[in-house]
Amino acid sequence: MCGIIGCAGVRDTVPGLIEGLRRLEYRGYDSAGIAVLNGDGLERRRVKGKVRDLAEEIRRHPITGACGIGHTRWATHGRPSEDNAHPHTDCSGTIALLHNGIVENYWSLKEKLLAEGHVFKTETDTEVIVHLVEKHFHGSLEEALRAAVKELEGAFAVACISSRDPGKIVAARNGPPVVVGFGSGESFLSSDITPLLAHTRRVAYLGDGEIAVLEPSGVRFATFAGAPVEKTAETIDWEPAMIEKRGFEHFMAKEIFEQADVVRDTLKSRVSLDSGQVFLDDLGIAPDVFREVSRVVLIACGTSYHAGLVGKYLLETLGHVPVDVEYASELRSRDFAMDRETLVLGISQSGETADTLAALRLAREKARAVLAVTNNTRSSMAREADGVLDLHAGPEIGVAATKTFVGQMAALALFALAFAQARGALGEEASRTLVQELQRVPLKMDRVLGGAAAIERAARRFLDCEHYLFLGRWINFPIALEGALKLKEISYTHAEGYAGGEMKHGPIALIDEGMTTLAIVPHDRVYEKMLSNIAEVKARNGRILAVAFEGDERARAAAEEVFPIPETHQLFTPFLTVLPLQLFAYYAASAKGFDVDQPRNLAKSVTVE
Ligand code: AGP
Repeated sequence: MCGIIGCAGVRDTVPGLIEGLRRLEYRGYDSAGIAVLNGDGLERRRVKGKVRDLAEEIRRHPITGACGIGHTRWATHGRPSEDNAHPHTDCSGTIALLHNGIVENYWSLKEKLLAEGHVFKTETDTEVIVHLVEKHFHGSLEEALRAAVKELEGAFAVACISSRDPGKIVAARNGPPVVVGFGSGESFLSSDITPLLAHTRRVAYLGDGEIAVLEPSGVRFATFAGAPVEKTAETIDWEPAMIEKRGFEHFMAKEIFEQADVVRDTLKSRVSLDSGQVFLDDLGIAPDVFREVSRVVLIACGTSYHAGLVGKYLLETLGHVPVDVEYASELRSRDFAMDRETLVLGISQSGETADTLAALRLAREKARAVLAVTNNTRSSMAREADGVLDLHAGPEIGVAATKTFVGQMAALALFALAFAQARGALGEEASRTLVQELQRVPLKMDRVLGGAAAIERAARRFLDCEHYLFLGRWINFPIALEGALKLKEISYTHAEGYAGGEMKHGPIALIDEGMTTLAIVPHDRVYEKMLSNIAEVKARNGRILAVAFEGDERARAAAEEVFPIPETHQLFTPFLTVLPLQLFAYYAASAKGFDVDQPRNLAKSVTVE
């Protein structure tokens, strides 16, 4: 979960490295640094703190160079400090290297290197790599890195430069992503494509077990064994403007208010309003597979896991198929049963979550097929899957997932409809009704977002509340979990999501004036039971907020405040009920003055285990 950036060119690369690191800060931001090659050899600037602190350090102590690398860190081994900030250098100070990932055998390597006389200056695992490169350096940086990576165990994306082999960057990948950009008289590398868009739209992806040599004239690729690799540049169609804040104070706010458009884009050209037919032609697997399987398993982490739970209710209701939703981190340790009649969907907005990738690699050995539901069709998960369902949500910069969550739900709704249609479980009339209502959801989402001011007032009124219980049932139980996670991860407030029916089995003991319950109570099959939950809370002096249909007088009478949503099909209420919860968390965090886009201790893509 770090961000790496590099440029081999002919003009000063320092401003570009800093701007690129700013765009990668969502991946980690406890320390940052750059290293460049210039007439004075190799120079570094590093700070404990954010990229803006690094920029200030460089303003005070300028460096320039046409070839350089940069890093923004999420600490794994070694506390956040200037000494532990990347890039790290060898004993001679002529090689600089940065790393994203974890070197699992670093301690045995470090002991061997210490015995050979290498002097270590940091607590990091990364430093063993730069000393290995030094050990194997005999004039060629590429050959030295190639020899070094063969000794590593674990996940790594590394880049290095040397004043003894100047003018080039050598990178290697085994796990965390590395994207290469092809400019005019300059070559780039980055952890993701966002920083590259300011310089080029032509990119290629370094594969696992591959090395790239970047020079101003171009990029050469080869395997760790040294065999040349040919790559064709892809053209990225994202507009740079898509990643700006468009007048919002935070990326998260922009992304919350984009969600209706995300659903429109996810649905676009994939449904027929007349026939109700769903077309997943870009999925990449034959519909026969849907008829041949008897079970579906959804695998994910965090917010994506909550989307998977919504997908479960959609699939079992529409497709009449058994569905399991598994935490990827748990599945990896289990002796789970899976066979050729199991269809697996991996759900990950980044497509790079280490736990999810590892679980899917295990599942692929047993299942009929593995599909990727992701916002990054060029990610590791997408490239390793048998088929891909693209969210089309555009870049999500806020660390807390919002629009990608809604995009995942839209994609899973489409998948459930297509799956049910392929198995003959959903007739044309029912399909048409559902598809036509699904098409109306974005407009209803915009109506909910139009009520943001009232939600902000409520969030400010409840700012002193330190404990929350989010309650939902059936298809809104996952939304209760997601609402609690949002409040936790950006406002650092204790919140738990619970199935409403579980209240009487323990959590009700928590209810008193200090506990606020946020109940999700649309008029669906569990409406009466949710109203009972609210009554149980009220009878014990708990404070109550509710998300309910517009004009629901019973909810309004029971709760201190109701966040209204328009009526919609009971299967589609999650698209609407999640919005007030996202906004409530956002406004609470903003009112507390926290860094909403980069919450403490988090990272956008958890590429380490
Ligand atoms: C999102 O708000 C969370 N920060 C986090 O739980 C995230 O959903 C999880 O890490 C999975 O990420 P992915 O979708 O990229 O796999």
